[in-house]
Amino acid sequence: MPLPKAELHLHIEGTLEPELLVTIARRNELSLPTMDVAELRAEYLFDDLQTFLDLYYRNVAVLRTEQDFYELAAAYLRRAHADGVRRAEIFFDPQQHLRNGVPLAVVMSGLSAALADARAAQGISADLILCFLRDLGGDAAKEMLHAALPFRDQFIGVGLDSAEMGYPPSLFREVYAMAAAEDLRRVAHAGEEGGPDYVWEALDILGAERIDHGIRALEDASLVQRLREERIPLTVCPLSNVALRAVPTLADHMLPAMLDEGLLVTVNSDDPAYFGGYVEQNFEAVGAQLGFGGDVLAQLAENSFEACFATPEQRAGWNAELREAVSRQTAQATETLGRNT
Ligand code: HPA
Ligand code: ZN
Repeated sequence: MPLPKAELHLHIEGTLEPELLVTIARRNELSLPTMDVAELRAEYLFDDLQTFLDLYYRNVAVLRTEQDFYELAAAYLRRAHADGVRRAEIFFDPQQHLRNGVPLAVVMSGLSAALADARAAQGISADLILCFLRDLGGDAAKEMLHAALPFRDQFIGVGLDSAEMGYPPSLFREVYAMAAAEDLRRVAHAGEEGGPDYVWEALDILGAERIDHGIRALEDASLVQRLREERIPLTVCPLSNVALRAVPTLADHMLPAMLDEGLLVTVNSDDPAYFGGYVEQNFEAVGAQLGFGGDVLAQLAENSFEACFATPEQRAGWNAELREAVSRQTAQATETLGRNT
């Protein structure tokens, strides 16, 4: 049984599996280079963040209707529920949909309906975080936030994603100040391809409460100290880092070093349709490849609840479930050991 956990770094557009991609493209009478699922999946090999983003934005362009967004989010939430996810804080990229001619109201209503239905049917707690595309710059981000304010009750925070290099967090100072004034939570991708200076800027200039990826923070000891002392969460995505070649192999991943430094790290899937696994597969992969035992995996699950934006009462409830799951596992392991000796 997967451990109860929260998923905090997940782009809903990155959950578009080739099967659903083809279904939606056909329904909307849009063409792709091929309609063959295996051929589409064979394209999912990347050299870096940009080669991934090129394919991701091409595929995102099939999403046009409320039903498309509903089906996309509903499929993710079903998978997440099966993976033990109790809480999901989900990124979406509205600027890309607007560029494709899809009104914000269509995106919001499709996603919000799927979240509400999953809450009712599966008891999963989920909220949306609106991401700004950093390569479109600070003014476009301000326009985006302004356009999104009529939907303020349908998202809990803002994030920053897309091409990182050359687009430092400092470009987004004003839009993050606007978001803070609206009581929106603030997170930002930083330190995936960019250096520790991007993480510093996200903290000091944007007031980011959580850093997405942040793997390159380890290169700066004083930054590590700051992250540790302030218990700033880092949402690490191990399979993503391998797929986009931020690390050569999973065995080389810095996650153990980050844990040794006492950082509040969590494990997440990022764009699971593209990177070879949903959140439980990320947990299994780090367990197998980094030699993490049940105690470390439970720590990572506990961290995910500490790092999430749910209420203290909700977090206490999930932590209690987690403790029960861990003691059940321990009891089973002891029983198996007893039978074998
Ligand atoms: N990094 C940056 N931007 C993104 C990603 C990512 O992994 N996925 C979707 N947009
Ligand atoms: Zn991401």
